Amino acid sequence: MIHYSQKTKNFTLISKQTQLTLAVLESGHLCTMYFGKKIGEVDLNYLLAHQRDANYMAFADGIVDFQPEILPLTFPSFGHPDLRTPAFQIMHENGNRISDFRFESYKIHEGKPPLKGLPSSHVSGKVQTLEICLKDQTKEEFLFLFISVFEDYDVMSQHIVFENRTAQSVVIKKMLSLNLPFLQDHYELVTLGGAWGRETHVDVRQLHMGSQGIDSKRGISGHGQNPFVALQEIGTGEEHGEVYGAGLVYSGNFVATAEVDMHENVNLQLGINPFDFSWTVLSGESFTTPEAVFTYSDQGLNKMSHIFHRFIIDCILPPLWKNKERPILVNSWEAAYFDFDRPVLLELAKASAEVGAELFVLDDGWFGQRNADNSSLGDWEPNEEKLGGSLESLVEEVNNLGLSFGIWVEPEMISPKSNLFEKHPDWVISCEGYTPQLSRNQMVLDVSREDVQEYIIEKMDRIFSIKGISYVKWDMNRSITDAGSLRLEAYQQEEQAHRYVLGLYKIFETLTTRHPDILFEGCAGGGGRFDLGTLCYTPQVWSSDCTDPITRLSIQKGLSLFYPSITMGSHVSAVPNHQTGRITSLETRGAVAMAGNLGYELSIPDLETSEKEEVKKQIAFYKKNRELIQFGIHYRLQTVHPENEKAWMKKSRNGKMIYVTYISILSTPNTLPKRLRLLGLEEGAYYKNVETGERYLGSELLNIGLVLPKITSDFSSAEWIFEKQ
Ligand code: GLA
Repeated sequence: MIHYSQKTKNFTLISKQTQLTLAVLESGHLCTMYFGKKIGEVDLNYLLAHQRDANYMAFADGIVDFQPEILPLTFPSFGHPDLRTPAFQIMHENGNRISDFRFESYKIHEGKPPLKGLPSSHVSGKVQTLEICLKDQTKEEFLFLFISVFEDYDVMSQHIVFENRTAQSVVIKKMLSLNLPFLQDHYELVTLGGAWGRETHVDVRQLHMGSQGIDSKRGISGHGQNPFVALQEIGTGEEHGEVYGAGLVYSGNFVATAEVDMHENVNLQLGINPFDFSWTVLSGESFTTPEAVFTYSDQGLNKMSHIFHRFIIDCILPPLWKNKERPILVNSWEAAYFDFDRPVLLELAKASAEVGAELFVLDDGWFGQRNADNSSLGDWEPNEEKLGGSLESLVEEVNNLGLSFGIWVEPEMISPKSNLFEKHPDWVISCEGYTPQLSRNQMVLDVSREDVQEYIIEKMDRIFSIKGISYVKWDMNRSITDAGSLRLEAYQQEEQAHRYVLGLYKIFETLTTRHPDILFEGCAGGGGRFDLGTLCYTPQVWSSDCTDPITRLSIQKGLSLFYPSITMGSHVSAVPNHQTGRITSLETRGAVAMAGNLGYELSIPDLETSEKEEVKKQIAFYKKNRELIQFGIHYRLQTVHPENEKAWMKKSRNGKMIYVTYISILSTPNTLPKRLRLLGLEEGAYYKNVETGERYLGSELLNIGLVLPKITSDFSSAEWIFEKQ
């Protein structure tokens, strides 16, 4: 529900449990009075009564003590007279960087408008959008704030459109998507950080005065930081405490900051990174920011995750895929790397079919002269000599084994050793006079160029049109350095990074529309582009190149804060693990991989017979419980020794089935097993352990917990399935 009161000049935006209240001040400034638990439509103007009591700030409009710098402004500008970090900045032809946007008008739309050139959430259930128009006081410049309320999901979203109706062009130096002000600072900042092979580790830090936050300057959202951020009340846990979470529907450079000002207020900001960014808006043109989505939980992190998970499945993933179960795959990468021929592939495929896998994925190495990572990216012609015939005939043979066929591509890249580079050296992202630096022996195509976009679309379309291909892993194996374009004018060079992302989205949009039945899995050296922008096109993402189950515990826990299990690719691989050298049991590798979309990434033909039998059992178990695992409600459980023991559970959407997983990292001598309390059960209902037949009351499992097994070795796991009686 969105309502504007003429009397109070308050906008009240209410979902089932959440509320956002904005107010238009007499001066026309727009303020965010409140965001949090639903309180109902009340006049909140009194909240600003004491805002005039601060000292030593500049006054606006010549009114003594009217100090915008201490107001919770919804979309603050810089220097007229607010001196906090602004949400946007516009540079004018005369060099002026000051703006003064005030309320002009509003509209309320049913549903929500699409964003020009950018992916965004789609409508599910009741959605209304408030469009607020702000106008600069001295010129014909307009800011449109679009705030959508997803009533049934308790999620709100916001994007901004800037319109230049003056006769001159202007340069946007900064234009974020969201600025959320809070009138206190008793919070911790929660982010997901890491590096290649150890992405999305949860990082929690207490707010201090000044600015703190995360960003990416890597051209992609990146392994280092994920475009998700939350503020949590100090002391928040999985089941208690207030949390405000936000994420960006964008796959490029971003910034997320929390700035504590001089009066202990916080502004939480999220959007395109203003560093190395500018955008010229010609007279009569406009600029649209990516969409930010945000929510509030009054019951800790698990509830925030549940809200986002439902929303992402229903409103972010391509609608065709939102309820579709995902196949169990075998991927050739860690099984064979570049070293394969047709017999090797067919042997792997045959063994995969025998253990019950459903999809065979041919990873890197099938095209051009690609026998190592130093050549052929861009030459998307199958290497028929290596494949022992055409790609079409290989797909057919694999299909005949009862498996569907998937293929790996890395379309945004170019190897210096490739026919494409010989033909089009100017297609590479580079700055005049500098040789672009290599990473993994490759360079990046200037995806902002239309000719490059057309080339990629044409090449990929040919491959994706091969009969029998039902899955594509879309990879991107380096960050973007030397960010410049040989095609863009000098004044547009800082537009390169954003233009790249827009170009990528155009390619994704075209190819996914042409091939709606193909399941796309996003990847960027693992989880380097795990974000909502990517998920609008690829309903799942390869979580990390590290397949070691113990490393994966932190990666997958971090992802689960924001992203639902159905978006997470997670595979069982060989031991010793290729990234960490760790040896873990097949049971534990299976238990961890079964937190998401299960796959195997090892040479199945090389397994012992007993191991093959175990894999068969794992696959049969997964198939039986697939809907529960992929779409169940995911709870992170509290263990007695949180550093050494990890546990989670999934509850089917109808509440009938429960799947609990417990992992003990290192074993400790002379300890007695403790108990693991479950969550989200019905107190009065009985739950039957389907393996042993033992029955427990929901209240027992909630308050006493499951008795854990005695642990006698490192990297142990235990799993339980319960059925509600
Ligand atoms: C990246 C991916 C891997 C694999 C290789 C192939 O690293 O994340 O899964 O596909 O590329 O080169």
